[in-house]
Amino acid sequence: MAGDKYLTFNNGQKMPLIGVGTWQASDEEIETAIDAALEAGYRHIDTAPVYGNEPAIGRVLKRWLDAGKVKREELFIVTKLPPISNRPHEVEPTIKKSLADLQLDYVDLYLIHTPFTLNINEDGSFKVDAEGLLEVDPTTNHAATWVEMEKLVEKGLAKSIGVSNFSKDQVARLLNNCKIRPANNQIEHHVYLQQRDLVDFCKAENVSVTAYSPLGSKGIAAFNAGAGIVRDLPDLMDIPEVKEIAAAHGKSPAQVLLRWIIDTGLCAIPKSTNPARLKQNLDVFDFKLSDEEVAKLLALDKNIRVCDFAFFHGVERHPEFTFKNQYTK
Ligand SMILES: NC(=O)c1ccc[n+]([C@@H]2O[C@H](COP(=O)([O-])OP(=O)(O)OC[C@H]3O[C@@H](n4cnc5c(N)ncnc54)[C@H](OP(=O)(O)O)[C@@H]3O)[C@@H](O)[C@H]2O)c1
Repeated sequence: MAGDKYLTFNNGQKMPLIGVGTWQASDEEIETAIDAALEAGYRHIDTAPVYGNEPAIGRVLKRWLDAGKVKREELFIVTKLPPISNRPHEVEPTIKKSLADLQLDYVDLYLIHTPFTLNINEDGSFKVDAEGLLEVDPTTNHAATWVEMEKLVEKGLAKSIGVSNFSKDQVARLLNNCKIRPANNQIEHHVYLQQRDLVDFCKAENVSVTAYSPLGSKGIAAFNAGAGIVRDLPDLMDIPEVKEIAAAHGKSPAQVLLRWIIDTGLCAIPKSTNPARLKQNLDVFDFKLSDEEVAKLLALDKNIRVCDFAFFHGVERHPEFTFKNQYTK
């Protein structure tokens, strides 16, 4: 009644419309959460080496696969090439490390995590300059990295490949320089940051879009604080229009925010480590928003970017950093 539960990529692969996000969760929290998520019916898991919990996720996946509670082909696992490894020669060793940690032979989708690159020391710590800013690697070459990403598909290490945090110009440039078209662009997307230009462009080019921080990323406040950033962030679940629509459907504001993303043709990857909220976030397939409700939510756009990467002090000096002046504080 409320439609399909999958989005189909330009290569025919199907991705579940709702996945579980895994950023900002300790090993213990994520093990419990992934267990609860799989029990609740999630099959799409979004992770990344920078979240620091791939080994913990791998342990849960192995338990489920070994017990025969789920088949590998039923899972849709996404991970990413980190900003510190965004160089052609690092693509294959980096995915192999993720695969070892996740205890898998392949991932369903491998993304270039960010369009920019950061330098690290031999011990893995960020290189910092005399002003205390992170050292960027300005030599980033998306087309060259992409050639190595394409090889992952040829070698069977990734079923599909894509990008994340890429602007319209960056996606366009890649489309002009690829053999395998990116299947997906994972970007911040919610009612207050809709990036319609970028979303419409990706859709027209048959590059699917995944909405990250779909609920406004409440937890980022603590993360920002750890990097010395204090910033007031909006509570999307407290927006009157969202609450009004939720009441009309007997659903929660979070469910309305997620259903709106699905109803506008995107996937969403809400993060929760709470079993009840995990269940709630997946329970969005028994209702649909009316055209008027979708339009009401489309009208809320305020260009407020929550995940602006300001916690990487100095990242804005990278030539491929595209978030400058794109949000209001
Ligand atoms: N590609 C990228 O650069 C990038 C950047 C950011 C995020 N991501 C991915 O996207 C995922 C989601 O984004 P996010 O973690 O930034 O934020 P989010 O999913 O928008 O919000 C997560 C926050 O909302 C709370 N929450 C979850 N469900 C709720 C509900 N039903 N009602 C009330 N509160 C709820 C969670 O708390 P509880 O855990 O306590 O429920 C958590 O504090 C990440 O985990 C990560 O996998 C990717």
